[in-house]
Amino acid sequence: MSSRTTAAITAVHGYVPDFVLSNQVLESMVETSDAWITERTGIKERRILRGKGQGLSVMAVEAVNGLLKKRGIGPEEIDLMIVATVTPDRVFPATANIVCDAVGAKNAWGFDLGAACSGFLYALTTGAQFIESGRHRKVVVVGGDKMSSIIDYNDRTTCIIFGDGCGAVLLEPNNEGFGIMDSILRADGSGCQYLHQKAGGSLEPASLRSVEGKRHYVYQEGKAVFKFAVTNMADVSAEIVERNGLKAGDVAWLVPHQANKRIIDATAQRMGLDDSRVMVNIQKYGNTTSGTIPLCLWEWEPRLKKGDNLVLSAFGGGFTWGAVYVKWAYGS
Ligand code: UT7
Repeated sequence: MSSRTTAAITAVHGYVPDFVLSNQVLESMVETSDAWITERTGIKERRILRGKGQGLSVMAVEAVNGLLKKRGIGPEEIDLMIVATVTPDRVFPATANIVCDAVGAKNAWGFDLGAACSGFLYALTTGAQFIESGRHRKVVVVGGDKMSSIIDYNDRTTCIIFGDGCGAVLLEPNNEGFGIMDSILRADGSGCQYLHQKAGGSLEPASLRSVEGKRHYVYQEGKAVFKFAVTNMADVSAEIVERNGLKAGDVAWLVPHQANKRIIDATAQRMGLDDSRVMVNIQKYGNTTSGTIPLCLWEWEPRLKKGDNLVLSAFGGGFTWGAVYVKWAYGS
């Protein structure tokens, strides 16, 4: 027994839509090639949520329902629901409210959290506080985005990168020394100029002009973002390992945000990890923004062992970045 109460991940689930948008299909939509996309990003295909009335909550509900089933608990046991996203169903009410209602989480409160690609790490760290303080016993942290809702499929610099998907984890108290052990989160608003959505907020509300000017889509200066991402994601990952007294050999898995295979490789290299200890599914799903890290955990869950040291790390719009050290709490 440890005297410290930590927040342990006790279940994970995910959801990706069925529709696959391959590099080959993108070749017929914009001037690009499978070879260019594969070489520059590592992406081969991504999933798209299609159809009317299909917002982020559709995917989040699937992920949360799967999570509850796996853990064998009822929705009324959830105390708090945090949804990390930049593509909520609506600006308000929060998608967390919609998801709570849809899954039957009658005793929960919740909110959305926007930190772009670092959203899941921000939300995980926030959710953990409520467990560590003793305030709550069951916190659901969702990370997901319907990026296709804010992507211009005539812009080859962004439409090849992003996809739709969503994952969720359950946090519960642990007194055996497992769970969220440490986190380092950073933000630098001066990076806004390189990656943002111009219209749709209070600064520039939706108008005929904003729609005609395609100002509701993702704007990204890829090269500039790439430079910041490589340096900061690698630095923060190395920092969390060092400050927790871990050596490269102690890290079972790096769970990196899936923005670009080259950024993932640079981070792994900096940490002294070979490919066999790095979760990579960017080739299948592209960049699902807040969804990438929980979707990796979902896919690798059967291979994770109790006591495994995981380093989750991300970099994204804002700029935001960070790393979370997790000691996995279950599995054999
Ligand atoms: O998750 C949130 C944070 N976001 C990121 O971490 C993204 C970071 N940035 C990146 O991943 C990369 O910068 C990109 C994948 C977006 C772009 O790769 P790049 O190697 O930085 O390419 P570039 O922007 O420097 O473009 C190189 C060339 C350009 O042509 P010229 O000027 O050399 O003639 C582009 O016009 O490639 C061209 N290009 C393309 N060609 C074929 C740009 N997009 C495409 C495309 N297909 N889709």
